Amino acid sequence: MRNLLPTPSGGLLDQHNRQHNYLRISVTDRCSLRCTYCMPAEGIDWKPRQALLNYEEIIRLAKVFVELGVNKIRLTGGEPSLRHNLHTLIEQLALLPNQTMLAMTTNGLLLPQTAKLFKAHGLTSLNISLDTLKADRFKAITQFNALGQVLDGIDAAIEAGYWPLKINMVVMAGINEDEIMDFVDFVKDKPLNVRFIEFMPFKNNQWGLERFVPYHVVRQQIETRYALQPIRTEPHAVAKDFAIEGHTGTVSFITSMSQSFCSTCNRIRLTADGAIKSCLFDPAEISLRDAMRCGASDEELKQLIRQTLWNKSEGHAPAEEILAHQNRPMIAIGG
Ligand code: GTP
Ligand code: 5AD
Ligand code: SF4
Repeated sequence: MRNLLPTPSGGLLDQHNRQHNYLRISVTDRCSLRCTYCMPAEGIDWKPRQALLNYEEIIRLAKVFVELGVNKIRLTGGEPSLRHNLHTLIEQLALLPNQTMLAMTTNGLLLPQTAKLFKAHGLTSLNISLDTLKADRFKAITQFNALGQVLDGIDAAIEAGYWPLKINMVVMAGINEDEIMDFVDFVKDKPLNVRFIEFMPFKNNQWGLERFVPYHVVRQQIETRYALQPIRTEPHAVAKDFAIEGHTGTVSFITSMSQSFCSTCNRIRLTADGAIKSCLFDPAEISLRDAMRCGASDEELKQLIRQTLWNKSEGHAPAEEILAHQNRPMIAIGG
C-alpha cells in the first residue's frame, strides 16, 4: 500500500529518504538517428506539436522544480537540439537561481553548428552518445551514415570548452563489444570521459541476455592492458570513474543492471509532453502539462510533484519484469 505524503518540507524527498535535485527535461521525442537500442524497430508515433510543452511551460515548471530544490538540469530528447531555437530555452534555464550545472545529452550530429552557440547561452556540460568508431557499424546501429559528423561534433565541443565532456558508449555483445579498447585509446589524448554503459532493456529494443555485457567483463578487458585508478565521484553519480596513467581522458562504467545505483538516486524526469516520471523504468506518470493547462497553481503543481516522488519505487525490477511493463520507449523518456 502506498503511504500518505508527509507535511510538505523544503526538498523533494521520497519514502526511502532520497532527496531529488537533478531534473532531466526531455524537449522532444524526435531524433535524427534510429539507434536500435533506443528506438523500437516499428518506430514510434511522434507526439503532435501541441502535445509538447512549449518553452513558456518548460520554464514555468523548471522554476517550480528549482523552488523545490533542483540545482542540476539536463536537457534530453530524442535529440534535444532538434527543438527549434533551443538556445533561447538554454538561455532562460541558465538564469534560474542556484544551478550548479545545465547539461545536455546529445547524439552530437549538430554540434559543429551549435556547440559554441549553446555554450554562449549558458550550457555548461555535454554528454555525447557514440557507440562505435567504425563508419559501417555506425550506419548499422543508427541507420544513418553520419560518423564523421559526430566526430566533428566532438571536436567542436572540445574546442568550445565544455566540461565535463562525456562520451556514452552502450556496450552490446556481437555489435560493438570488440571496440572497448579502441574507445579507451580514443580518449588517450583528448579531454574526454568515455563511459561504458550496460545495455538496458526496453520494449522492442533488441535487448537480450545474449547481447548483455556486464560491467565486470568490460573492466577486466581494459585491465588486461591498463591499471585503472579510481577517481572520487560525487555520491549520486551513476558512473564509477577511473584514470589511467598517461591518459588525458578518463574511463567510467555505468552499471545500471549488474550493480544498480537506485539507493542513491537523485533524478526526476519530465517528458516532452509534460509527464513526470519518478523512475526510468516505472511506467507510472502524472501529466503536469494537463494540470497546468487546466489552471493549476504553482502550489498545486508542487503538490503533484511531491506526491509522485514520495511514491517512487525503491529500485528497479529485474530485466524480465521491466520488459513486461508497458513503459515508454527510451526515445520518449530521454535516458
Ligand atoms: P551525468 O550528469 O554526467 O552523470 O549524466 P547522466 O549519466 O545522468 O546522464 P546521461 O544522459 O549521459 O545518461 C547516461 C546513461 O545513464 C544512460 O544510459 C542513461 O539511460 C543512464 N541513466 C541516467 N540516469 C539514470 C537513472 O536514473 N537510472 C538508470 N538506471 N539509468 C540512468
Ligand atoms: N541502455 C543503455 N543506455 C541507453 N541509452 C539509450 N538507450 C539505452 C539503453 N537501452 C543511452 C544513450 C544516451 C543516453 C541518454 O541513454 O546512449 O547516451
Ligand atoms: Fe533511479 Fe529508477 Fe534509475 Fe533506479 S532505475 S536509479 S530508481 S531512475
